[in-house]
Amino acid sequence: MSSEGVVRTGISLPKKLLDRLDELRRNLGIESRSKAIQEAINAFISERTWLLGKEEAVIAGSVTIFYTHGKGDVERRLVELQHFFLDLIRSTTHVHVTEDKCMEVILVVGSVKKLRDLVSYIETLKAVEEVRTSLHIV
Ligand code: NI
Repeated sequence: MSSEGVVRTGISLPKKLLDRLDELRRNLGIESRSKAIQEAINAFISERTWLLGKEEAVIAGSVTIFYTHGKGDVERRLVELQHFFLDLIRSTTHVHVTEDKCMEVILVVGSVKKLRDLVSYIETLKAVEEVRTSLHIV
């Protein structure tokens, strides 16, 4: 493979994170650490680019939330949030994953500004373990 256009760089990572990456890439059959890191960077860019859109730009996609069922008032807050962002939310699907874990997928169409507000609020909820977005500027 040609190394044209390839830059070597050094980064600092916590050992535990690097161990997790190496274990995952080996199990996935990804031959090199560099390739795994390239995939991770591409996923990061793909997931976060919408955040730089103009506030009024229209984006569409999904927000997936993983959270602990019954922790605090998370269910009530998530419902209230969705009523507040009524014009943004087209559909919601809730899945009871285990006895104490839930997943909610919210399909959205709306402005970058409102989506930023929505995601920021969700991230403040203590019961929320992970928020994943798949959003694209239309
Ligand atoms: Ni549930």
